[in-house]
Amino acid sequence: MSAWLSILSDLFLLLVGIGILLLIGLYVRDVTQTRDAVLRNYPVIGHFRYIFSTLGEFFRQYFFAMDREEMPFNRAERQWIEHASKDNSTTVAFGSTRSLEIRGTPIFENCAFPLLDEQKRPPATVTVGEGWCRTPYSNNSIINISAMSYGAISRPAVRALSAGAKLAGCWLNTGEGGLSTWHLEGGGDIVFQFGTAKYGVRNAQGHLSTERLREVTAHDTVRMVEIKLSQGAKPGKGGILPGEKVTQEIAQIRGIPAGQPSISPNRHPDINDIGELIDMIERVRDIGGKPTGIKFVAGGMEWVHELFEEINRRGLGSAPDFITLDSGDGGTGAAPMTLMDHVGLPIRESLPLLVDALDAHGLRQRIRVVTSGKLVNPAGVAWALCTGADFVNSARGFMFALGCIQSLRCHRNTCPTGITTHDPRLQKGLDPADKAVKVANYVAQITGAVEIIAHSCGVPEPRALERKHVRLVQENGKSIRMSELYPRVVS
Ligand SMILES: Cc1cc2nc3c(=O)[nH]c(=O)nc-3n(C[C@H](O)[C@H](O)[C@H](O)COP(=O)(O)O)c2cc1C
Repeated sequence: MSAWLSILSDLFLLLVGIGILLLIGLYVRDVTQTRDAVLRNYPVIGHFRYIFSTLGEFFRQYFFAMDREEMPFNRAERQWIEHASKDNSTTVAFGSTRSLEIRGTPIFENCAFPLLDEQKRPPATVTVGEGWCRTPYSNNSIINISAMSYGAISRPAVRALSAGAKLAGCWLNTGEGGLSTWHLEGGGDIVFQFGTAKYGVRNAQGHLSTERLREVTAHDTVRMVEIKLSQGAKPGKGGILPGEKVTQEIAQIRGIPAGQPSISPNRHPDINDIGELIDMIERVRDIGGKPTGIKFVAGGMEWVHELFEEINRRGLGSAPDFITLDSGDGGTGAAPMTLMDHVGLPIRESLPLLVDALDAHGLRQRIRVVTSGKLVNPAGVAWALCTGADFVNSARGFMFALGCIQSLRCHRNTCPTGITTHDPRLQKGLDPADKAVKVANYVAQITGAVEIIAHSCGVPEPRALERKHVRLVQENGKSIRMSELYPRVVS
């Protein structure tokens, strides 16, 4: 017994000795280095500042931040999605924790006599490209899964979204990383996207390959094609996939070398003006026969008016069948902070401008409007429908449905929930079958809640909502009807 005690005490003294030596080493390193003023002035102890600020990023959400405080999504928004995706009740007690005086808050105008159950209808079906392409596409889902490339998100995440889209009856956008077997696996509707690097449909020179696009669009479940011009989080910058996320499989699907960063050009090198953009839309639609649209984040609206004028000059057959308008505060796997924070209009400003531009050029019936940008809760979706959108897309809403905890590590391949990592150990936590049900629950709950807003406003279904049904809180804390702020004038 005493021999054990003496070994333990020797060990303890040894460890203390090593600890003291390490601290002395750290002290000497801190005071002699010149790169960091805090560590030079406060050797050893200064390291706590870095430890706490790193940990603070993760613990703030649990201990310190109020329900409506965090960015990009606060706890109240995230928890709504968590409950909805688990098909739990989203009922809360006592009263709203949301301040109704914050500028931009939507307040829907409930009517005196909301609709009775027998007067209610499911969301109306919208058809895209009818009369203008060989295989138009119809769907009534008001919320759909926005572009997230296989590469930015993991294989189990794509599998869960694919199966979830099928269960929910919504579409899944592939993002710009190409079409994989995992997108097709669930059998749900797919919007195939290609971006500036033409991943998945590029030839040896990096240009659009007619044969490869024909192969992709030959799949029955590929319902539409989206040409990505830009996205909200990084306008003027192509996709960025860090080298550690470019696995053999992802490299093969994209047609690029494995292990090296996958950087797409800032814009399509073969689309230099509006004429060439329309040429590309016509070519893509002609190859696949499927509705073809464009996705962008708006800066100014001048070029959009020029595009619409040119479409009217050439004829309605030259128009994109849909436009996906992304918000300046949209999400991404990886992007420079300056672009995320300061470039591109937020959707609250750009969506009414786009719908008004379509109205002004008489194109609103021809071109369907899809929109995205933090529209992850029912009020956001209802606002977009009131404003004039046909469909809402969400990326991060569905990431939350998959279990995302907003740890902001999408670009590091260390996502703790397995959604944006290719590390098999971390992917183990994401069971595609379980999460597919959560994706479908989320769609059902959003739809149900937007239906309640619609009925409360006195209309039978979400797509009957109009600008007169929503008010927006102004700087002085009072709200104004959206139809007064942005009256719709149809030419
Ligand atoms: C992980 C991730 C990957 C994305 N990849 C793409 C992409 O490949 N193509 C694209 O057009 N947008 C991409 N986006 C942007 C989304 O499609 C969407 O436009 C944006 O996040 C706004 O929607 P949200 O606020 O609901 O997330 C990505 C977003 C995230 C979060």
